[in-house]
Amino acid sequence: MTSPAEIAFRPEDAVEIAEFPGRIVIFVGADGRVPALARKLDRPMRGALKRFLASEAFAALKPAEAADLGYPAGLAAEAVQVVRLEPRAAAVEARRAGAAIAKARGTAGVLVLAGSHPRAAEIAQGLALRDYDFTAHKSAEPKPRGAVTFLVAKPEAVAAAAAPMAAVTEGVFFTRDLVNEPSNVLTTEDFAARLAAMQELGLEVEILEEADLKALGMGALLGVGQGSASPSKVVVLQWRGGPADQPPFALVGKGVCFDSGGISIKPAAGMEEMTMDMGGAGVVAGVMRSLALRRAKANVVGLVGLVENMPSGTAQRPGDVVRSMKGDTIEVINTDAEGRLVLADVLWYAQERFQPSGIIDLATLTGAIIVALGHEKTGVFANDDALCAAFLKAAEAEGEGAWRMPLGEAYDKLLKSRIADMKNTGGRPGGAVTAAQFLARFVKPETPWIHLDIAGTALLKTDSALAPKGATGWGVLSLDRLIRDRFEA
Ligand code: BES
Ligand code: MN
Ligand code: ZN
Repeated sequence: MTSPAEIAFRPEDAVEIAEFPGRIVIFVGADGRVPALARKLDRPMRGALKRFLASEAFAALKPAEAADLGYPAGLAAEAVQVVRLEPRAAAVEARRAGAAIAKARGTAGVLVLAGSHPRAAEIAQGLALRDYDFTAHKSAEPKPRGAVTFLVAKPEAVAAAAAPMAAVTEGVFFTRDLVNEPSNVLTTEDFAARLAAMQELGLEVEILEEADLKALGMGALLGVGQGSASPSKVVVLQWRGGPADQPPFALVGKGVCFDSGGISIKPAAGMEEMTMDMGGAGVVAGVMRSLALRRAKANVVGLVGLVENMPSGTAQRPGDVVRSMKGDTIEVINTDAEGRLVLADVLWYAQERFQPSGIIDLATLTGAIIVALGHEKTGVFANDDALCAAFLKAAEAEGEGAWRMPLGEAYDKLLKSRIADMKNTGGRPGGAVTAAQFLARFVKPETPWIHLDIAGTALLKTDSALAPKGATGWGVLSLDRLIRDRFEA
């Protein structure tokens, strides 16, 4: 498992700045004023810092962008990195500034002169988040990374603010590792074992095996996994940090460990990307991990449906009819529209067993959401305006892109089947909406519910603000904040 870098917060005089051999980082706002602690660099640098801050190069820096002043003559440092950041910057901006430090750093140690910057903890979190590197399958030893030390005016206060943020960062890393892992490693068995290991953190973890799922009547989920050598499972993770009489909030994740499409097999080009089709389950796992690590004062249950969608002699066929746990029958027009079949049963089970105060499901559900929103924003579908508004607010505050999409009866009628209660595809037009509409049939009208289609945001081919290319962990930050806002405020 990838662990975030350790970051120490120490008093301003704890390190002799002129003697520090690594990279020194300072933050300067648009006005070019050097903060108090960073003024210690002025004299040894013999005015070079001041000249830089008066230059066009500094003026051209956008917020959270950085420039290196290399090998400053009067210092032992490799570089002084000047990061543009206002003293009153928003949290998201401060994180991006932290990410700029991570991007530039090599193996040398880093000394961050944060002084009395009010966003020191957020800067540290951004640094940690952007510092992620998935090296599990690289033969070469990962390069050792130098220590990161923040010099701050109030070390205890900053460390206290940073601790819960570090817990969330660990959650994000857990999600990214799961999503980056190939499918021969992260089988349904392996995924379940990684979740079971979280019992150590105080989570209650139950694994429902195929026989249990059969007894529960989960024919929709079991149909998807029946062609695979990996057994289907549902894993239930409970965190009970809130009042005993408070019903839990539920998070439900699509955990298709590999999606070949099944008998409706996908084209070869790009199929390797379908190792990430458990991304929804990965986010649920990451959020549960962060809740446990920061001892959240909330009751949250996470449920993931773990299956593999493979073609074989035992695989489900197009045209098969399966019966869901709810009792509704489904004609499987396309075996590649499997995520909704998995979620249908897990959503129903979550409501029957827990009567949750609300449900948010996450799934890499449709290619259509990528056509609609690209890779910038997750598609948000909701049956409840208040819950939706609260989620969008949390996502905005965390800088995670999210955009509300419609639901409605007009789309629902596209799911009519000739021989069963519904079919599992609604055709190409509005493909992400009809998929959401299918899920809505398995949500009781009285349950506030959000569906997040993360097909475009779970994994990126390019670096993003807080992650290198690959798994992003999109959603862990927003969901953790939503839970904080709703239950812990
Ligand atoms: N896992 C895919 C959706 C997906 C596509 C995720 C691209 C990430 C990137 C999903 O199971 C799927 O195959 N959906 C089909 C549905 C169709 C058959 C109705 C799709 O989007 O093409
Ligand atoms: Mn599919
Ligand atoms: Zn899928």
